[in-house]
Amino acid sequence: MKTSTTIALACLASFVILCLAVPAPSSAALDGQELYKEYCKGCHASGSPNGEYTPLDLIQDQWTRFFDRKYERTHKDVLDASHGNRPVIEVIGPEELQAIRDFAVEHASDSENPMTCG
Ligand code: HEC
Repeated sequence: MKTSTTIALACLASFVILCLAVPAPSSAALDGQELYKEYCKGCHASGSPNGEYTPLDLIQDQWTRFFDRKYERTHKDVLDASHGNRPVIEVIGPEELQAIRDFAVEHASDSENPMTCG
């Protein structure tokens, strides 16, 4: 085989490999509302002794402050019986938490579209 053909084939092969290696665009973005229901509502439904919290119970600043400063401290020792009795902050992954946070801030009481988590 001629050297130029070999090089061309090698280029083609690496091009194909590179294309295959690029991850497919992730499917639907995480649904903050569903995640809120799954990971927060169980402990903060109406009448809960832990306090009733759904997006419209706080204003945007309060949600931001909660996720920035309080969430970890207040939930690291709380075990989630619905998810293997592990600490809440270990049950909820960083991407899920971000989606829940976005949902809460977007639907806070002073947002354009205040909402419960359903
Ligand atoms: C396994 C039960 C449990 C789960 C799950 C849980 N929480 Fe809590 N949450 C608590 C308890 C208990 C407290 C009270 C902690 C304290 O006062 O020290 C609390 C406190 C809070 C507070 C008040 C914090 C403060 O001091 O101002 C907010 C807001 C809150 N939770 C929101 C959430 C959100 C949002 C989620 C989901 C990402 C969530 N919680 C998941 C049990 C839970």
